[in-house]
Order: sequence, then C-alpha cells, then structure tokens
Amino acid sequence: MPSGSTTTVGPASALRGLVRIPGDKSISHRYAMLSAMAEGTSRFHNFSAAQDCYSTLGCVGTLGCAWSRKDGGIIEVVGRGPKLESPAQPLDCGNSGSTIRMLSGILAGQPFTTELFGDESLSRRPMARIMKPLSEMGAKLEAQEGGRPPLRIHGGPLRAIHYKPEVASAQVKTCVLFAGLFAEGETSVEEPIRTRDHGELALRAFGVQVERSGNTARIKGGQRLHAIEAHVPGDLSSAAFFLCAAALYPGSQLTLPGILMNPTRARLLDILIQTGMKISVAQLEEHHGELIGTIEARGGIWKGGTISGADTAALIDEIPVLAATAPYTENGLEVRDAKELRVKESDRIAAVATNLRKMGAEVEERPDGLRIAGRQRLHGAELDSFGDHRIAMAFAIAALRAEGETMIHGAEAAGVSYPAFFEDLKAIAS
Ligand code: S3P
Repeated sequence: MPSGSTTTVGPASALRGLVRIPGDKSISHRYAMLSAMAEGTSRFHNFSAAQDCYSTLGCVGTLGCAWSRKDGGIIEVVGRGPKLESPAQPLDCGNSGSTIRMLSGILAGQPFTTELFGDESLSRRPMARIMKPLSEMGAKLEAQEGGRPPLRIHGGPLRAIHYKPEVASAQVKTCVLFAGLFAEGETSVEEPIRTRDHGELALRAFGVQVERSGNTARIKGGQRLHAIEAHVPGDLSSAAFFLCAAALYPGSQLTLPGILMNPTRARLLDILIQTGMKISVAQLEEHHGELIGTIEARGGIWKGGTISGADTAALIDEIPVLAATAPYTENGLEVRDAKELRVKESDRIAAVATNLRKMGAEVEERPDGLRIAGRQRLHGAELDSFGDHRIAMAFAIAALRAEGETMIHGAEAAGVSYPAFFEDLKAIAS
C-alpha cells in the first residue's frame, strides 16, 4: 500500500480568486548557496517554503553558515566568505536534486571531504552529469553504482574547463559555474539548448561577473561575493497548477501577484495564451535581474498541441500538469524529447500514464514522451503520487474535471515544493 497521507479531490466548475504563490525554488536554492560563500549577512524576502529549499538551508548550516527565519518569513544567512566549514556530518539533501547537484560545485572547491545523501528517490537519480565536469576540473568524486548518491566529494584547487554538457540541465550549468569560482582561469559552459539562467543572474546579484554569449556562460575564478538583500519572485512552476486548472473552465478568474517572469521560465504563459486563455501581466518589476509581475488570468479552452525540442526543456517542470490535463483539451497533447522526465523525482512519463489510465484515459507512453488524445471523459480513481510532488499536484488538478472523487495517496509529497498547495486549491476551487 502507498504510505503517507491520502487527499481526496472532487470536481469543481471554476477557479476564482487571488493566490500568493510561494517564492521560486530555483532562485531560493541559488541565493541560499551563494549567500553561504558571501561576505556578510544576506536577507531574503519571500524565500521558498519548499521542503527542498529547507534541505539546502540545512546543508548550508552544516557547512558553518548560521541561518534563521525572522519575522515576516525573512530568511537570513550569515556568509563565511568563499571558505566553508568542514562538516561534522554528511549533508542531508532530502528529495532535492538541485541541492545535491549545485552544492557539489561549491564543495568541489573546498579543501575538505564531504558526503552528501538523500531520500530513496534522490538515491536513484543520476549524478554522473555533475561528476564528469567536476572530475575534469580536478575534484575527486565517488558515488554508488551507476553514479547514484550518496556522493563523496574530495575538494581542492580546481582548474578551469570549457564544458559542453550532453543533457540540457540548468542544475549542471550552475554546478560548473559555481565550481568555476574556485578554478584558476575562465570556466565556461556551452549548453545544447539554453536553460533557465537563474545561476548566472544570482551570481551577478552577489557581485560576480558572468559573461554570456549565445548558449555559453563564462566565469573567472577567484571573484569575491558580497551579501545581498533580495526579494524572491513567486514560483511560476507552482502557479502552473492553478493556471492549467483555470484553462479548463471559461468562467475562471485568477490573480497571482509577484510571479517570476524570467523569459527562460515563462514559456507556459505563451502556450496557454496561444491556445485561447486570456492572460495579462501587470506591475512588471526587476529584482536582481529577475523579472516579476502580477498575472491576471481568465479561463478559456486549452486546445492542446505538441511540446518538443527547446520547448520541452523550457517546460520540463510544467509537463506533468500539462499532460495530466491533456485529456480535457480539444486536440490532445503530444510530448516529445522528454527522456529527462524519466529521471526526475519519479519516472514522470510512467507516473502520468499510469494515473491517467486509472482515470479511464487512453494514453500512449513512449520512451521519450507521451501522446494523449483530447476530448476524453475521465472518472475519479485511486491514484499514487509516486512520492513526487509534481505528480501529486498535477493529478489534484486532473481530478477537478473528472466525474466523481479522486483519492491521491502520498499527497503530502506536494510539500517538497508547495506545502500549502491543497489549502490554496480549496480556497479557489468552487
Ligand atoms: C532546476 C532545473 C531543472 C528542473 C528542476 C530545477 C534548476 O532540472 O527540473 O526542478 O533549478 O536548475 P534539470 O537541470 O535536471 O533539468
């Protein structure tokens, strides 16, 4: 039997109201890690509420950087300059691939040995993608069979490299750029497809020079970081669940203030607009290079379509909810070039196909994607989150238009990125 808590979601006929979406996970991780290496105390407003980001803070604390939660949820981190403290115990990365992969870049440059581990899901995820470049830079890394965590990193002086990752991954790019801070000379990363650029923007926010041309980012070693005070924009990947739900009902009306509008992350909005949803963005501002705005969304009919190539990379975290709601679209959805989804917190291609079939949908599962026909009627069913936050939330949204009630086992997984998700959904679904 699946373990953990079970949540039941019933049908709704519209989503209406205002939701304050928690701070962006990708930016929160990077700010927490860089604040550890900065001189002075950094302060973050609207830091992500995600358990994953608290895993990062926990690691930063074990590396000698005191952090605390102040009034108004402000997170303060006391930096130690570039040299962290040799940890007295292994670092617990929980469920967070971002924590283990990006922090490894920093630990590769520290003059001590660190062990990093995580939960069952993280222990199955591939680490060779960061072990390869960090080894080329001169660090020594050990992992379990197949390059899985726990990881042991023997850090030390590094040499600069020009790295061309095989997979388009912002975690890998950020890991190598972070390691580049400790390397002699200029380190560069040339990506096959441009991925989210929060690593580059966060480094600049902390006073580091990062050059960018085309798909290549460059950083010179030996630069110093200074503490910052920053506001973290609301996470568009979390907002995605409500936006996709609103796209199912013409009568929906949502206001989402202070959402991240970084162009490398905002592809979902284009797709929903193209297929008939009315979305406007007001009060655009820039904070430390990151765009932020208030989304006003009015429901329409999400027509469906094809997601492939660069779009797949840009929508990698939103595909579970797009796929889970695809049977309700007019034309259905085809997802291609998405092999990476098989090595996320769960095998997301298999998880989506299994749950949709339980709800009565016809789904074609492919090695690197899915084909889901449109205009299908789904019924409530007993589903599993597969211990994956995005699967738990995606199927809560799919359940809104199914006939009858849906039970989601392991629904507590949502806390990995959005602890208040089910309360927020309840407040706007009617
Ligand atoms: C992230 C990058 C993506 C994404 C993850 C967060 C980041 O992973 O799926 O949720 O913050 O850089 P990959 O780098 O593995 O594609």
